[in-house]
Amino acid sequence: MKFYKAKDYNDMSRKAANIISAQVIMKPDCVLGLATGSTPIGTYKQLVEWYNKGDLDFSKVTTVNLDEYKGLPKDNEQSYYYFMNENLFSKVNIDKSRTFLPDGTEADSDKACKKYNEIIHSVGGVDLQLLGLGHNGHIGFNEPGIAFEKETHCVTLSERTIKANMRFFLSENDVPRQAYTMGIKTIMSAHKILVLISGEDKADIVREAFFGPITPQVTASILQLHNDVSVVADEAALSKCTDLI
Ligand code: GLP
Repeated sequence: MKFYKAKDYNDMSRKAANIISAQVIMKPDCVLGLATGSTPIGTYKQLVEWYNKGDLDFSKVTTVNLDEYKGLPKDNEQSYYYFMNENLFSKVNIDKSRTFLPDGTEADSDKACKKYNEIIHSVGGVDLQLLGLGHNGHIGFNEPGIAFEKETHCVTLSERTIKANMRFFLSENDVPRQAYTMGIKTIMSAHKILVLISGEDKADIVREAFFGPITPQVTASILQLHNDVSVVADEAALSKCTDLI
């Protein structure tokens, strides 16, 4: 794993956007694995800025997102579909028919997961997978558990995740209890992985996930086994690893 220390959130966002830009420039028809959450918002903003300057072309890019809440329609402001449209897809020249997320409106979990696996396989795998890190070490919505789940599956969100994500909803009761997420095998199959982390509230989990034992109880710890992971994190997020990096 390579660690890139950023001064703050903005610096992290620019560094990450540079890495994604390099991928798009070097392979214009690449497949990007994309993430939601607060962490990548600045990165998407920077990519849009460079696109507006004429430095980036997304016309041949395909995207597959990590996850989606089960039960939220696409026009719900808290759906990840809505988030991606708002933050990136509607602002660049990406072909919308080449942007994929699990279908949160499909009530039959087996059907939704099977369909998303087929999509991921049909695009030929992910060149660069962007990841955020949950406070409990989750990646996508792969919550801590007793085993690593392989491919797309339906998860019941942990109390901690529901609490962390309720800031985006009117109340805790409005946070969906389930989500569809890419599995660990799919995430680990990406050629390159880029993890973004910001803020002191993530400092403990950064140390645990990347320097602790590899265990499904800290999902992100599996990334230690991938051979091309770049972690771009700000000083606050790395503040408890200064003796290790
Ligand atoms: C969410 C998402 C993850 C995201 C993580 C961290 O629940 N499912 O993909 O990486 O939690 O979110 P944030 O960046 O807002 O801290």
